[in-house]
Amino acid sequence: MIGIILLLVLVVIIAGFYFSKTTKDMPKSWYEWKTEFRYQFIGMTGLIHDFSNESNDRVELYKQPGRVAIITGGNRGIGLRIVEKLLACDITVIMGVRDPQSAEAAVSKIVDLKTTKGKLICEQLDVGELKSVRQFAAKIQKDYPKVDILINNAGIMFAPFKLTSDGFESHLAINYLGHFLLTHLLLPQLKAAGTASQRARVVNVSSCVNLIGRINYNDINGEKYYYPATAYSQSKLAQILATRHLQNLLDKEGAYVQVNVVHPGIVDTDLFEHSATTSVPFFKKLCFKTPERGSRTVVYAAIAPEIEGQGGIYFSNCVKGPMHPAAKNAEKCEKFFNYTCELLKLNEKQ
Ligand SMILES: NC(=O)c1ccc[n+]([C@@H]2O[C@H](COP(=O)([O-])OP(=O)(O)OC[C@H]3O[C@@H](n4cnc5c(N)ncnc54)[C@H](OP(=O)(O)O)[C@@H]3O)[C@@H](O)[C@H]2O)c1
Repeated sequence: MIGIILLLVLVVIIAGFYFSKTTKDMPKSWYEWKTEFRYQFIGMTGLIHDFSNESNDRVELYKQPGRVAIITGGNRGIGLRIVEKLLACDITVIMGVRDPQSAEAAVSKIVDLKTTKGKLICEQLDVGELKSVRQFAAKIQKDYPKVDILINNAGIMFAPFKLTSDGFESHLAINYLGHFLLTHLLLPQLKAAGTASQRARVVNVSSCVNLIGRINYNDINGEKYYYPATAYSQSKLAQILATRHLQNLLDKEGAYVQVNVVHPGIVDTDLFEHSATTSVPFFKKLCFKTPERGSRTVVYAAIAPEIEGQGGIYFSNCVKGPMHPAAKNAEKCEKFFNYTCELLKLNEKQ
């Protein structure tokens, strides 16, 4: 008994230290503590998966001149290394970013843009603002009749509560709704690019925390009760449910487009700015993947010939990973997909 009490006291002291070193608030209720522990458990499991699958986590880069890829974000973190790999394949890469000038400068620090055969184009996009998504998509539709690859990468994690100008909670808006709309608007270009031997591909960058996600239909924006970790895992589960149903729709139509979803690994990037993990700096450097390694599974899902014709899959470390039970239920995926169309006021035939 004394042992258990001492252990609990130790956990509280460590947690107190952990949270005191960050901008993150200490959990205030049993639900919040439970959520934090579930995150730590999923994070540890993810680290073990990354460590034990290091040899699988590989992508072969090959030349694909003439192909067009779009990525959201890409000016830093995992996205920057995805852009580097796509350019090395001689692909035309269009980055949808909030600051096109600084994005080009960031890429030019790691890629010689004068000599690379890949072409880089940076366009303005705030993926959390639906108007901006529509403007970005219109520009693409005008200039590119075909889009071979769409990588929905941009994301935020554990941000304080904020509603976008469209009235959506920011994790939901940036991580999920903006990308859902972008994919919807670019489907004609993706369908035009895909062929029976080389499908167009959509890659949604999700996270292993989808496993503890829950779709809160009664309070989707967290306006009645908001906890950042819950908002993040909801948005990451949302991506998987929508991926699965979209692939079903495309298959029924016979479209040559495959849609997959990826956990990039636990990666040392700025994504953790609101996370308590920042209180232990060496832990990140020692245990997390580098952004370069974090980009591999995403690029694998985007170009690997060995998964040609395979959609609706969740990849982690370039192998199939475990999905949330709801993602295996076609009815639940369809229900959420249709609910999203309602939120975005989309007519499915639009
Ligand atoms: N790092 C990990 O361990 C990890 C684990 C699982 C999943 N992921 C996922 O991987 C993806 C990339 O994350 P990361 O680790 O590379 O994070 P990061 O280093 O923080 O980069 C986030 C990227 O998203 C962009 N972004 C954020 N809000 C945006 C908006 N409203 N409009 C356009 N772009 C926006 C950022 O651009 P600005 O510079 O303009 O902010 C930046 O390019 C995310 O979807 C994340 O959820 C990461």
